[in-house]
Amino acid sequence: MPNRRSIAATALLIVSMAAGAQTPPSLKNIYRGDFLVGSAINADQITGKDSRGDAVIESQFNTISPENALKWENIHPRPGVYDFDIPDQYVAFGEKHHMQIVGHVLVWHSQTPAWVFQDDKGNLVDRETLLKRLHDHIQTVVGRYKGRIHSWDVVNEAVNEDGTMRQSLWMKIIGEDYIAKAFQWAHEADPQAQLIYNDYSLENEAKRNGVLALIAKLKAQGVPVTTVGLQGHSSLTWPSIEAEDTTITAFATLGVKVAITELDIDVLPSATSQQTADVSLNFAQDPKLNPYFVGLPISVQQELAKRYADLFAVYLKHRDVVTRVTFWGVTDGDSWRNDWPIKGRTSYPLLFDRNGQPKPAFDAVIRVATEGKPAN
Ligand code: XIL
Repeated sequence: MPNRRSIAATALLIVSMAAGAQTPPSLKNIYRGDFLVGSAINADQITGKDSRGDAVIESQFNTISPENALKWENIHPRPGVYDFDIPDQYVAFGEKHHMQIVGHVLVWHSQTPAWVFQDDKGNLVDRETLLKRLHDHIQTVVGRYKGRIHSWDVVNEAVNEDGTMRQSLWMKIIGEDYIAKAFQWAHEADPQAQLIYNDYSLENEAKRNGVLALIAKLKAQGVPVTTVGLQGHSSLTWPSIEAEDTTITAFATLGVKVAITELDIDVLPSATSQQTADVSLNFAQDPKLNPYFVGLPISVQQELAKRYADLFAVYLKHRDVVTRVTFWGVTDGDSWRNDWPIKGRTSYPLLFDRNGQPKPAFDAVIRVATEGKPAN
């Protein structure tokens, strides 16, 4: 039975199709009122070098995330040295196009320079020194973009697959309260910003339970965490639709919002039996694991389309708690999945192909909004 939102989405689709066969409908318009739809963007897109990518971003998305530009190693490469050139252009890009601007990421164990944790002699610093460095970093970066970056990934990937706390240098040197402190300092620097705990594989029960316990504890202490980010680095078989549904419901029950922060669906054979998005993995090249370098068979295109449709149907079901869905990259050619966890593969994880053209998966995601159910 069509409801009011699906009638509105269908009307929009008809109007945009009538506007010209060359103009595809847009994700941001079709899901307006449900959740924002966005993409991580890279330095070429931020600076305007990739005009084809920018055209897709401007027409399709109403929120952006910085793929690498705001990570510690780029924005704060040396002690006392901040490089705001690309980050400033990133924020200006989002403002020019009236987008929700996401900051990624304040505290992470990856892409953080070694000096952060070391003294002049290369020894690990003490708790007070690292807390001070963390405080200065958050105050400087969040403070600079106060009121302009609307949503921050404050802490990324603090929990292991079995639900225990990851023994990162943040954890080892400061202790578990590095998380609470990071959220408090981000909130002080910008009281209006949404503050996110972001992680991968939360659809797996053990890890989800660890993060649920962490968020419950933070909320009980009054720590200003507003949202849990499900990264969403997925495959054709993982996560199950039931697990996605259960995961969103579980976090909603804690009283936080849910954002899908880094969505992509890999169609390539898996290099590992682990379900992970650990950026440090790097497996040996193997032609058997790169089967589609000349093109993606239509049957796999369709399988990808069906997977995307099924996942979007779950997001739509939970539109009261899902604030946004962000793809990790614009076109297949941009995706980190071409080089992770094996370098030099040809991957097809997104909705736009290497020429910036919408794929069958794009049509399927549009159809979910108009029909309110997965396409077959
Ligand atoms: C990835 C980027 O896409 C790559 O360009 C970079 O080399 C490594 O990091 N989880 C995250 C993201 O939170 O920051 C990662 O992005 C992908 C996994």
